[in-house]
Amino acid sequence: MNIVLTGFMGSGKTAVGRILADRLGWPFVDTDEIVEKNEGIKISEIFSSLGEPYFRDAEARAVAQAAGMDKTVISCGGGAVLRAANIDALEKTGRVVCLMASPETIYARTRHNDDRPLLRVEDPVKKIRELLESRREHYKRCAFLINTDDISAEEVADRILDKLGMK
Ligand code: S3P
Repeated sequence: MNIVLTGFMGSGKTAVGRILADRLGWPFVDTDEIVEKNEGIKISEIFSSLGEPYFRDAEARAVAQAAGMDKTVISCGGGAVLRAANIDALEKTGRVVCLMASPETIYARTRHNDDRPLLRVEDPVKKIRELLESRREHYKRCAFLINTDDISAEEVADRILDKLGMK
């Protein structure tokens, strides 16, 4: 059984995932890192030279690989939920948790980092709002949602372990 973290960019998946992995003594994997390893290039280069559809296919392969693992904390790229097949595969071998945050929090957490091609636009807050809105239904499909706006990554990890009965 795995723990799977999904949710929008900047919702805290990496920070919370590393804490969970540390507490459980499990490995931590990130589907973005699997994509970069498989493809041999950075996500930003995949978007700019091969395009988003190519990235989504590569992401689906990475998700399938991650879902085949066991006792692993898996963090998914924020758009992995867009394909129902990705979530179906992850749900078969893991408990899927969705981290949520407001557009303002997401902007504050992502603004100093330019490795997210979808947010490299003139008005990132507007883009965040639009993407969040268009993905809302997909995120809501997850069994367990947690808002990370006002709590630390440690606290989020605590709540997840509690909810999953793993404390
Ligand atoms: C994306 C999220 C990113 C990465 C890519 C696309 C998205 O992952 O997969 O830039 O569509 O939301 P993080 O959520 O880990 O930043």
